[in-house]
Order: sequence, then structure tokens, then C-alpha cells
Amino acid sequence: MKYVVGIDLGTSAVKVLLVNQLGEVVKEVSKEYPLLHEKSGYSEQEPEVWVTQTIAGLSEVLNGFLDSPETIEGISFSGQMHGLVLLDENNIVLRNAILWNDTRTTEECQEIYDIVGKEQLLEITKNPALEGFTLPKILWVKKHEPEIFSKIKTFMMPKDYLRYRLCGELHMDFSDAAGTLLLNISEKKWSKEILNLLDIPEDICPALVNSHDKVGRITNEIAGVTGLSPLTSIIAGGADNACGAIGSGILKEGITLCSIGTSGVVLSYETTSDKNFEGKVHYFNHGAPDSYYTMGVTLAAGYSLSWFKNVFADGETFEDLVQGIDSVPVGSNGLMFTPYVAGERTPHADATIRGSFIGMDTSHERRGFVRAVMEGITFSLNESIAIFRNKGKSIETIVSTGGGTKNDTWLQMQADVFNARIIKLSSKQGPGMGAAMLAAYGCGWYSSLEKCAEEFLHIEKEFLPNEENVEKYEELFSVYQGIYESTKELNRKLKKYRK
Ligand code: XUL
Repeated sequence: MKYVVGIDLGTSAVKVLLVNQLGEVVKEVSKEYPLLHEKSGYSEQEPEVWVTQTIAGLSEVLNGFLDSPETIEGISFSGQMHGLVLLDENNIVLRNAILWNDTRTTEECQEIYDIVGKEQLLEITKNPALEGFTLPKILWVKKHEPEIFSKIKTFMMPKDYLRYRLCGELHMDFSDAAGTLLLNISEKKWSKEILNLLDIPEDICPALVNSHDKVGRITNEIAGVTGLSPLTSIIAGGADNACGAIGSGILKEGITLCSIGTSGVVLSYETTSDKNFEGKVHYFNHGAPDSYYTMGVTLAAGYSLSWFKNVFADGETFEDLVQGIDSVPVGSNGLMFTPYVAGERTPHADATIRGSFIGMDTSHERRGFVRAVMEGITFSLNESIAIFRNKGKSIETIVSTGGGTKNDTWLQMQADVFNARIIKLSSKQGPGMGAAMLAAYGCGWYSSLEKCAEEFLHIEKEFLPNEENVEKYEELFSVYQGIYESTKELNRKLKKYRK
């Protein structure tokens, strides 16, 4: 039997998956690490913990592995997007990584619009300037930490840094480069125009590769500490959303992905980069060769639920928390939640907005609050679906992945709110499975990712929309859509009281 490893470098943990030739997950290890929030809106991580936790994960996977290590032919990566990792001339990390959910860069986003112009930015990168993206973070470091900026030799994304530490080579793949706001996504080249206009040296941009490219082999040192063979190939890998799409079979037009992790994503496959969504949804290079995807993001999807659990149900499991939610009717007895606990992206790119519970009364019990949080997250994702549908996309089948598949009531809620058929796959590890598939394809096991998907991915369960619920949710969704405008100004006034 042959194997590949998919490493999913997430925001709260790294997951290491050992997958065999039949696409079966033979072993899965998860190692957590902390998020550092020094101030409100800041979100950082120490890159070294990614490396130590990945090595610990790989060692655990290899521990007790009965076949010879040479049968593990390749490793690839899926990574949290947009995070800024800065390296000096000796490839030493210059500061903590500033992550995708860090919102300190509102001024820098404005600076990008002032200097580059909204139109030109959209034309080149196909995306608006958002706090979470990498370019505003580079400008923030330039302004606030000039001594660090002057020492930058290379910037990278989180999984690129991890890959460098495993194989000693510096690269960035197109799907992650697309999230920097520095890539011309149609030409697949770093944008000289944007770099020049913002006075950023072009040579800090790493060499670009495809997600399935073989970029090296594991170093002897890492082979020694993990038990892997030094012959193990390293395949570039991709952005977590691109890998989530690959691992869910979103490899042709007509299938949509809904992924609920820390953030939530609605993602759709595109063959070309020339559709016009006016920057309302993200438009990125796919991890599959010569293709793209469009995507709307809910910043705090699973994060809203884990925040609620930490504050109001500390110590309970997810299963304890969601117990009884199916006895609460559609609409949570008039209680509604907006998941803006860390600001929002789609459709309201707004770092200042915050979450609300609307309609609380003395009859509401905790399970009603939990259901309202889940409904609010699902409504937020439905805003992205509405944008796609308004632009003429037909969305009838949605593959659901991530934490949102852990509970059947939530999956039925997705079918009812999205008014679409929801598919749950037997493999639950979207991005990690996508990384493993890139490794399998990169090692030459298959002639295409589609062929690999036919072998690796299987439907476990389907959920069809219930007409009565669809009608109720349509009405509730229009109430939900009004909350943003009604609370926007209130949140602006409250901002100065935040930590
Ligand atoms: C996408 C985004 C998030 C992160 C989560 O634009 O910021 O989905 O990729 O890791």
C-alpha cells in the first residue's frame, strides 16, 4: 500500500492526515496552538509553534506505522490564508505572523484605495482591499515597525513557512498568492504596478508555483525526528479554501461548497477569471490547475459558536452544547443573532460591526440561544449564496464540510436556509483531504485531480429542503438582512469603549 500525508495548518490547530491509496484516512492527529490577541482586533501567532506542533503531529502519525516509511510518498499542505510571515536574509522570522482575522489595518486599506485606486486594484487582483488580506499588513509593518520592514528579505504565507522548514525551499503557490492582493490573478504574476505604486520591493515576493508542483524532498533532519523517509516528496499545497474545495470535489462548474470552520465560506468553481462580481465576493486562483473560485466569507462562523460555548458553557463538549436545539422551532422563538463578533467580510466588509442578539425575552432558554447562533451563522452564509444567485449562478447542490456537518439539525437548517440539496461526504477533513489529494496528484498517482476525487470522495448523506421551513427562513432572512444597517451606527459609537 502507498500513502500520502495532508497537513492542514489551521488557525487553532494543525491536522496531520495519513491517507492511503484508496483515499482512506488511516490516521489523523490534531495539535493545537494559541491565538495571540494583544489588543482588540489584533490576531497573531508564533510561526515556530506551527513547526513544533507539525513535527509532533507527524511523529505521532509515524509512531506505530507498520509499513516501511518509504511507502509514504508525498506530503502536501493546506494553510490558513493571508497571514503575513516575514523572514530576514537568513530566513529567520522577524516578528509574529499577523493573521487573516486581524483587523488592525483599516487605514492601510484606505491607503491602498487612495494610491492604487479601487478600479485598478479590482482589475488586477479581482478583490477589494480588506483588513484580513496580506498587503495591508505589509503596509502596517512598513508604517509602524520600519526597522523590521527594512530587514525583510521574503514574505510568505503560514503554510509556505512551514513547508520551508520541512524541505528548505522558499515558494508560494498561486492559490495563496491570490490572497495577498499583490498577484495579478489572470496573468499569475506578481503585480509590478501595485508593488511600485506602494513602494514595496519586488524581490520580497517568493517564487510562484502550482499547488501540485513537487518542490523538494523532506530534509534529513525532519526525516530523522519524525521517522519519515528522506525520500518523501514535498508538494507545494494551497490555500485552505482552495484545498477545502479540492477535498470536497469542487472541481467543475455547478457545485458549490459551504464550509463552516473558524470562518465560514461559500465557494464556487470558475473556469475563467473574467466574471464580474464587482468585488462583492473574493475571486482567487484555485489549487486545481488553470482554474479559479469565487467565495464569500463569514469571518466568525464556527468561531461564533465556540465563543458562545466558551463564555456560556465553559467545559462542555459541542455535543452537550447543541443538545435540544431540534426541539426549538425554526426562528428560535423570535430570537435572532448576527455573527459579527469579529467584524464581517461578506457582504459587509466592516471591521467595526459587532454581533447582536435581537428579540430576547424571558421565555428564551439556552438551547434557543444556541439555535439562534447557528441560524445567524447560516443566514450570514446565505448572504453569499444570494450574491451568487443574483449574478445568475444556479445553486442547487451544496457540499457541506467542516464543523457545520457535525450535527444533522444544522445540516437540515443549511438545506432549508439555502433552499438547496446539501451533501455530506464520508471524509470530514475537507482541506486536509485536499492537501492529501494534491500530494497524490503531485506524486503522479492520477492523471488529474478529478480522477483522484472519483477514487477518494464518497457521499455519506443528503439533506433536502423542507418547503415549509424554506418559506419561514426566507421571511426570517429578510429580517436578518436588516440588522446590519440598524446596528452599524450603534457599533461605531460603542467602538471607543472596546478593549
Ligand atoms: C479567506 C479567509 C479565511 C481563512 C481561514 O479569505 O480569510 O477563510 O483562509 O483560514
